[in-house]
Amino acid sequence: MRIGVLASGRGSNLQSLIEAWQEGKIPAEIVAVGSDHAEAQALTRAEKADIPHHAFPLKDYSSRIEQEQAILTWLKESRIELLVLAGFMRVLSPDFLKALNCPVLNIHPALLPSFPGLHAQRQALEYGVKVSGCTVHFVDEGLDSGPIILQEAVPVEPGDTEEILTERILKVEHKLYPEAVRLVINKLIEERNGGKRE
Ligand code: GRF
Repeated sequence: MRIGVLASGRGSNLQSLIEAWQEGKIPAEIVAVGSDHAEAQALTRAEKADIPHHAFPLKDYSSRIEQEQAILTWLKESRIELLVLAGFMRVLSPDFLKALNCPVLNIHPALLPSFPGLHAQRQALEYGVKVSGCTVHFVDEGLDSGPIILQEAVPVEPGDTEEILTERILKVEHKLYPEAVRLVINKLIEERNGGKRE
């Protein structure tokens, strides 16, 4: 199984996937890491792990559609069978998802369907919930709305700032995402083999 990853920034979730893969916990290979930011730390992490990587900064394209098309072409050429979004700050268009034609996963730092969209941790704090968490889900055409694969709750403590809560959730994300990717890959392998695990 060939995995592609898209990430816009720091790439700590990408790092957790790279480590799980290197430790043999994910029965698949990360073959492509793309970013919409040339300076993304995620690209440096891919470089260090010897994974083919590429930046697609908007300024190199005449429109967002053209930028997305370039990402699509590159992922297609990389022959990926699963796309993992790890802090990719762009919503993929329905045309992109249709043309890519493989499962796409995302991780969101809240217990969906609560607090979709940007600044989920801030939204949770402002609402005053006592429990938040993170969710791994399939990507569909909506915003953080596809079928849920795994979720884990994280407590919100009195006095939490956005940074503290973000950090507490992130630690759980780093465990949950590799686990969800492993589950999905095993299922895909099973389907490919006509029902048999291998
Ligand atoms: C994570 O909080 C993830 O849930 C959200 O974006 C953030 C990415 O962090 N989708 P990182 O780049 O993986 O460190």
